[in-house]
Amino acid sequence: MRRLFVAAAALTIVFACYAAHLSEAPTGFDNKSNGMVDDTTHQADQGKFDEVEQIADGLGPLYNAQSCRECHQNPTSGGASQVSELRVGHNGPHGEFQNPEIPIAHGTEVIKGRSLVNDRAICPSGAFPDSEIQERVPDTENIRTLRMSVNLLGDGFVEAVADQTFLDLSRDQCKASHGKICGQALYVPIVEAPEHTGIGRFGWKDQHASLLSFSGDAYLNEMGITNRLQPDEVTKICNAASEPNDTPGQDGLADVDHFARFIRATKAPARDTQLAQAPQAIKGSGLFDKIGCAACHVAALTTAAAGTKINGGTFTIPDALAAKTFYPYGDFLLHDVGTGDGIVMAMQEHYGRNMYQVQWRNFSPSTFTQTANKMRTAPLWGVRLRPRLMHDGTSLTLRDAIERHRGEASEAEKKFDKLKHQEQEELIQFLKSL
Ligand code: HEC
Ligand code: HEC
Repeated sequence: MRRLFVAAAALTIVFACYAAHLSEAPTGFDNKSNGMVDDTTHQADQGKFDEVEQIADGLGPLYNAQSCRECHQNPTSGGASQVSELRVGHNGPHGEFQNPEIPIAHGTEVIKGRSLVNDRAICPSGAFPDSEIQERVPDTENIRTLRMSVNLLGDGFVEAVADQTFLDLSRDQCKASHGKICGQALYVPIVEAPEHTGIGRFGWKDQHASLLSFSGDAYLNEMGITNRLQPDEVTKICNAASEPNDTPGQDGLADVDHFARFIRATKAPARDTQLAQAPQAIKGSGLFDKIGCAACHVAALTTAAAGTKINGGTFTIPDALAAKTFYPYGDFLLHDVGTGDGIVMAMQEHYGRNMYQVQWRNFSPSTFTQTANKMRTAPLWGVRLRPRLMHDGTSLTLRDAIERHRGEASEAEKKFDKLKHQEQEELIQFLKSL
């Protein structure tokens, strides 16, 4: 009895300490650190993120851009941008999604194992005048979509949210909506911690849980740069750089480590303070909650406590990211809102060729198959800075984006349609303050 009491008292103290430490995540577009590292370190990490890579650095052979910043820049490094990329595939005999087969080099090689189609290649060139490796979409790959570049600012807080928080969110929203809105929480491999998985929260399909995993993936698939997490080139044709391209510097950190630390130390997107205080936007915020937008576009989340080990024990949540409340206006879960692109994320592309040899805990390919027509709820923080909306960037006004919502979001969308014109404008004013 006494021991129980002591345990309960200890728990209360722990909880009280946690609650007392709860504070708001810093916001801003000022290129300063959120406190995880000093500003000089943060700006040096940003330098790596901004760096333009050349063929001698390992760029390509197939790639999309020469630096992370090229696609993640608005209004500053780490933001989103208008750059979109191409994903394709086709359905197999039983209606299941299959990755594309893309012939290059006059059909002498076929690129497999990824849905991404790279828009650029390093040859033909002076050194390889007769090598033609540009990827193009074959007629047979009739499932085709564009995917917009997304915001990374504040993602360190997203990474520091406990898996359980997302599992609870999914269960609670499903219960509250009587089964109409049930976001899918997907266990995905942590590439830097073989056998370990986490709840995916990054990418349009929640394909990663870890910012380091995503950095390794992006370095290979967007820029063609091999690294310790993704050591295999997509093709070796006209590849002359030494492998792996990304090796540690004097500080022991490779580029992928700098990218991950840069993103982790960014501040969350700041709101438009003037608009946020306007009576119209304040009313709009109430309507956003009332008609059910907030079921998926969840206003606030809180990160786990300092010292919590995540990403299979490879990352310990530091004070600067711990017990912080932030306002993403998203649940980071996958939903079918009628905009599905039919694509299931490719294992080899995101987790490497090695992944097939590893037994990942809680990993189930059938849960991936279920994601074909789902998208992660687009977090609305910073949405005022993105003129092209939704995963494909084809909705050019907030009203158009809202009106495309169907499926799990049908009820909320119908309620939006039924609002008076003035109320709809108030809701849109609120979105413009985010
Ligand atoms: C050619 C454009 C392009 C380049 C270059 C690029 N990205 Fe991205 N990035 C994207 C797109 C598009 C997405 C969404 C991908 C998806 O889910 O299909 C994305 C998503 C991300 C995400 C997930 C963020 C979230 O909240 O969902 C991270 C992290 C990321 N990129 C990091 C990087 C890093 C680090 C680099 C440099 C190594 C990089 N990116 C280079 C276009 C790019
Ligand atoms: C069932 C969950 C759900 C509900 C309810 C919901 N949304 Fe969404 N929302 C999503 C998903 C998923 C996307 C991304 C869809 C895509 O890209 O194809 C999205 C995208 C958006 C976007 C585009 C953001 C961007 O950066 O591209 C806006 C704006 C938006 N929602 C506003 C609203 C409003 C306003 C409501 C209420 C009327 C609402 N949503 C209700 C899930 C939901």
